Amino acid sequence: MHKVVHPKVFYFGTPVVLISTINPDGSNNLAPMSSAWWVNQSCMLGMSYQSQTVENLIREKSCVLNLPSAELVHHVDRLALYTGKKDVPVYKANIGYTYEPDKFQLAGLTAIPADLVRAPLVQECPIQLEATVEQITPFSETGTIAAIELRMIRVHVEEHILLHPDQDYIDPEKWHPLIMNYCEFFGLGAKLQPSRLAEPFMAQYHEKN
Ligand SMILES: Cc1cc2nc3c(=O)[nH]c(=O)nc-3n(C[C@H](O)[C@H](O)[C@H](O)COP(=O)(O)O)c2cc1C
Repeated sequence: MHKVVHPKVFYFGTPVVLISTINPDGSNNLAPMSSAWWVNQSCMLGMSYQSQTVENLIREKSCVLNLPSAELVHHVDRLALYTGKKDVPVYKANIGYTYEPDKFQLAGLTAIPADLVRAPLVQECPIQLEATVEQITPFSETGTIAAIELRMIRVHVEEHILLHPDQDYIDPEKWHPLIMNYCEFFGLGAKLQPSRLAEPFMAQYHEKN
């Protein structure tokens, strides 16, 4: 039997992204987030205007979206409840957030230079997407969340998760994203059955490549 409920959040299970940006003093910031989806070469993020990340995106207009695999969960979890904002917003301080200037060290992750943007790549993440900001607009009824539209301008992928070393396609059997499902971390299970969409999609992909 279904019941009418009034959930405060709708965290149905989305990939975790570690977004790296540049702080006003030129240092690196790194923040976990999971309200993200992609279409073609564009991405939409939902992030609090009170985060250091959104402040950095408004100023710098670029970032790197680093996608951790499920095995990096311990590193990602170390970043929870920290902000790169010196003046911790009251609502965050009230639930235990503190200021952390070096989140790469805190998480045990390595910052390496990107090709086209100032923000660094996270070396350990199998997928690193350099991106520029297209637009930032208020989102949601409260106006506290920014809808951030990004354009992917360079894509770095660990070779071992590609379908074939010479093809620009990620093998879903080899890529194991870290998923946030109602504030808890999950991996994906095994493939359930062949998809009817995959056959024509892949045929068209191979024709073009
Ligand atoms: C797994 C995970 C997912 C998160 N997803 C989001 C999100 O989608 N949007 C958001 O605004 N904050 C999200 N947060 C909270 C941010 O990480 C938090 O606001 C952090 O302080 C941002 O860092 P910054 O202030 O240095 O930018 C998430 C945190 C974790 C641990």
